[in-house]
Amino acid sequence: MTSSSINVAVIPGDGIGPEVIAEAVKVLRSATASADAELDLTEYKLGAEHWLATGETLTAQTLEKLRAHDAILFGAVGAAPGDTRIPSGLIEREMLLKLRFSLDHYVNLRPSRLYQGVASPLGNPGEIDFIVVREGTEGPYVGNGGSLRTGTPHEIATEVSINTAHGVERVVRDAFRRASERPRKKLTLVHKHNVLVYAGHLWKRTVEAVAAEFPEVTHDYLHVDAAMIFLATDPARFDVIVTDNLFGDIITDLAAAVTGGIGLAASGNINMDRTAPSMFEPVHGSAPDIAGQQKADPTAAILSAALLLHHMGFAEQAAKIEQAVENDVAARSATPRTTAEIGDAIAAAVS
Ligand code: NAI
Ligand code: MG
Repeated sequence: MTSSSINVAVIPGDGIGPEVIAEAVKVLRSATASADAELDLTEYKLGAEHWLATGETLTAQTLEKLRAHDAILFGAVGAAPGDTRIPSGLIEREMLLKLRFSLDHYVNLRPSRLYQGVASPLGNPGEIDFIVVREGTEGPYVGNGGSLRTGTPHEIATEVSINTAHGVERVVRDAFRRASERPRKKLTLVHKHNVLVYAGHLWKRTVEAVAAEFPEVTHDYLHVDAAMIFLATDPARFDVIVTDNLFGDIITDLAAAVTGGIGLAASGNINMDRTAPSMFEPVHGSAPDIAGQQKADPTAAILSAALLLHHMGFAEQAAKIEQAVENDVAARSATPRTTAEIGDAIAAAVS
C-alpha cells in the first residue's frame, strides 16, 4: 500500500528539454519509490515543434487538463534563435507566460548556490547560497501596452508595469516566510524606488508592513543597480532577495552565472494558495546548439524536480536529491559524462 500519490504533468518541450526531463523523471521515480509514494505521470506535447506541427500554442482544453494535476515538470521550449519559421515572442507569450499567469504562479522561486567543485567566474565568490523570490504575475510582463503609428517615425510604444497591493503583499509575505525558515533569516528588497517612485514605494511600504509579522527576520533594501555590483563583488551577503518580475528576470540570470552556470539553475513557478498546479523547470532554454547529443547537463532539471517534491510535501526526498546532486557535482571530473550517465548516477544515489 502506498502512503500517498503525486499526479504530475510532464512537458518536455523542445531541444534538450526531453533529454534533461528524462533524467529528472528518472530521479523523481527513484526518490518517490523510496518514499513509498505513487508517481503518476502524464506527458503533454507543447512548444515550438508542436506549434510547427499543429499551429497550437496552448489550447483551453490543454490548460484545463493541466489544471487537474498536482504539479507540472517542464523542460524548455523554443527554437534556435534565428529560426524564422516561428514568430518572435509567440511561444513565450502564448505558452510559457500564459501558463504562469493562468495558473497564478505568483512566486517565481530561484535558488542560487555555488556548489563545491563548481568554478565560479568570480575571482573570490565566497559562500553563495541565496534564493530569489521573483514576483511572477505582474510588473511589465503582463502585456499591458500597445503601440500607435507603428513603424513610422512617430511611433509610440507603451509597456506598463502593473503592481497591485494584493500581488506585492502575497509575494513579500512568501519571501519573509522563506527567510524565517533559513538559518540567516535575512531578506533584501531589490527595486529602484528612487526613480520608479510609485511602484517602488508600494514595494517598500509592503516590506515594512509585513516585516512586523516576522520579527526574527532582518531586512534591508538595495537599488537594483547597486544589487548588481554586490552580486558580482560580494554575493555571499544575500540570503533571500524579493523583487518584481522584470528585475527578478535579470537578477536570476546573473545569479546563475556567478554560481557556475545555467546547467545547474533550477526554478519553481509556484501558486502558494494551491488553487492551481505549480510548475518546476530549469532556468535554461532548449539549447538547440547541443540538442540530441546527450551533452546537456540535466542537473538543473533534476534540482527542479527536487523543488517540486518539496512543494508537494516530500521535504525529505527533496533534501535527498539535493544532497545527491551536491555529492555528484563535487565529484565531477574533467571527463564529460552523457546526460543519461549523470541522471543514472543521481537516481542511483537517491534510491
Ligand atoms: P539556452 O539557455 O537554451 O542556451 C544558452 C547556452 O547555454 C547555449 O550555449 C546552450 O548550449 C547552453 N546550455 C543551456 N542549457 C544547458 C544545459 N542544461 N547543459 C549544458 N549547456 C546548456 O538559451 P538560448 O540559446 O538563448 O535559447 C534557446 C531557445 O530556448 C530559444 O528559443 C529561447 O527562446 C528558449 N528559451 C526557453 C526558456 C524556457 O523554456 N523557459 C528559457 C530561455 C530560453
Ligand atoms: Mg530569463
